[in-house]
Amino acid sequence: MAGQIPQRFIDDLLARVDVVEVVGERVKLKKAGRNYSGLCPFHQEKTPSFTVSADKQFYHCFGCGAHGNGLRFLMEYDKLRFPEAVEQLASRLGMEVPREGADDPRAQARERKRKEGVNLLELSASYFRERLKMPEGQGAREYLERRGLAPEVLEAFGVGYAPDAWESLKRHLGERGIGEPVQVEYGLLVHREESGRTYDRFRDRVMFPIRDIKGRTIGFGGRVLGDAKPKYLNSPETPVFHKGRELYGLYEARQADHRLERVVIVEGYMDVVALAQFGIRNAVATLGTSTSEEHLGRLFRMVSEVVFCFDGDRAGRQAAARALETVLPLMIDGRQARFLFLPEGEDPDTLVRREGTEAFQDRITCASPLSEFLFDQAAAGRDLAHIEERERYASQVLKAVGRLPEGVLRSLMLTELSRRTGVEAKDFSALLARSDAGAGRGPHGGEEAPAVDGAGVPASASFQDEGDAPPLRRSGGVLSLAARALQLLLHEPELVTRLPAEDDWCPEEDPDGLLCREVIRLLRAGGYRSPQVLLAHFHGSPEGERLAALARRELLIPRHARDAELEGLVEHFRQYRRRRSPQEEFDALLARERAGERLSREDRQRLMTLITELHR
Ligand code: UTP
Ligand code: MN
Repeated sequence: MAGQIPQRFIDDLLARVDVVEVVGERVKLKKAGRNYSGLCPFHQEKTPSFTVSADKQFYHCFGCGAHGNGLRFLMEYDKLRFPEAVEQLASRLGMEVPREGADDPRAQARERKRKEGVNLLELSASYFRERLKMPEGQGAREYLERRGLAPEVLEAFGVGYAPDAWESLKRHLGERGIGEPVQVEYGLLVHREESGRTYDRFRDRVMFPIRDIKGRTIGFGGRVLGDAKPKYLNSPETPVFHKGRELYGLYEARQADHRLERVVIVEGYMDVVALAQFGIRNAVATLGTSTSEEHLGRLFRMVSEVVFCFDGDRAGRQAAARALETVLPLMIDGRQARFLFLPEGEDPDTLVRREGTEAFQDRITCASPLSEFLFDQAAAGRDLAHIEERERYASQVLKAVGRLPEGVLRSLMLTELSRRTGVEAKDFSALLARSDAGAGRGPHGGEEAPAVDGAGVPASASFQDEGDAPPLRRSGGVLSLAARALQLLLHEPELVTRLPAEDDWCPEEDPDGLLCREVIRLLRAGGYRSPQVLLAHFHGSPEGERLAALARRELLIPRHARDAELEGLVEHFRQYRRRRSPQEEFDALLARERAGERLSREDRQRLMTLITELHR
């Protein structure tokens, strides 16, 4: 990298540049006395609380507290790193940015090389783009058309075609005076040691240029037109391309929306491009690696929210668990991470084509917040009716919470955990404080961080008597009607005798409704008359988890009123079925979510089911 920028240059630069001008180019300003004011670009507002002072060469927002000088403004507004912001300010004043040690010939050679590499990659990208338009690109054009990609999207992403030849790019670059060693170094040519022969790495592939945040091509991903292996071939590591760091589509997303607030992280090139084709222009993909802390660090410098998108299968769950681990330490206040699971067998590309833009947007809107995913994950496979399991559950959540930075999310998680387990929050805080001091908070710091003693009980935490424990409730969670019926039956299986013979009242569209039918069938088949037996029957399955969750929820209905309650529910369902279409139900739920209400998990699931149903 280039050397340090001398401080005196920065002072000089700031003395010459006018902050009013810099801000004024990006924000509409009005003169107000000695200062200027306008709508703050850093938060949503209707009346101006953003002021810029020409005297002090400073901006300040009374609404959100954003403030700083011209450099800071550029960094925040254009999402630039410090040296980039300096470069930009300097170039508008026609100044050259000096670098300490710039006379160092090694630094100069490095810089020259970087430019050479970028130039060569740019040449290659335009070469591929041209090939796609030539007769030899016909197969690729047909392929892209089959995949439903319109010319505008291909244009926006600079998609091209590498011809089916061994030396076509090599010759093209050679004619422009670019030597083979550089082509090899930047991954465009493959060099065979044994024969000394060199040939084009990418042949007969659709080419996706990978660009850095400024739009410079730094590498390529190439897809075969058929089923040959490997399906995707990426540039190797080069002086400018490090695949564990780059995100495909980030530049394009920023081009589409300068004030990008949220990005969706998907798995593949095609997913990014297909989503863009459908108007969802904020997707990015890692390049065949899992999402790293570096990826996320970069993203969070630009946006406040990331939505991880995963396949609904086992591998997807595992990837989600890894992503959770990675994102935890980065969750300072104001940042959000959410988790979206796609139906099995779908990727964003196939799903958005099948369901359309709105449905996909709705899925994004309804993705689980980090907190919810974390609790769900810790509860998975546990029978929380048992104190020991509840303790392990608490430990697992605590371990994750311990990796969160201090802040609102961390406190909220502790409060919520306390509600769910009946352990007082102050006990958790004490445990955490101890484990922070002891083990540190690195990814591997403190196995079983919240110091659990041999007996499996947190050393200083005391589980309260069931009697005065707060009811175990999901945050703000109101149970769906089907869940209420299920809960009643679970707490009091005898009630099954009060149900009508036909169970068509029980909603099939709701997973809880389906489970309710199954429970009714089991109860009717005889034998099972205690909640424990029912729980044992479903043990180890997702249904088992669901039932356990409902079982540990306190049933607040007095015994004598329970059959009336159940009958009421059945009646309600029957009317409901007659009245409401899925579309109406969907609209109502979505309206609540969009109004900022925190939907219960049941409602969220119902929403997902409805999305799938309505777009079938
Ligand atoms: P997938 O095989 O799921 O690709 O790999 P996809 O995006 O659905 O591709 P299409 O729809 O068949 O075109 C997901 C991602 O994993 C990486 C690529 O980044 C790809 O987009 N990958 C996959 C490779 O790098 N090499 C491969 O051979 C396969
Ligand atoms: Mn795909």
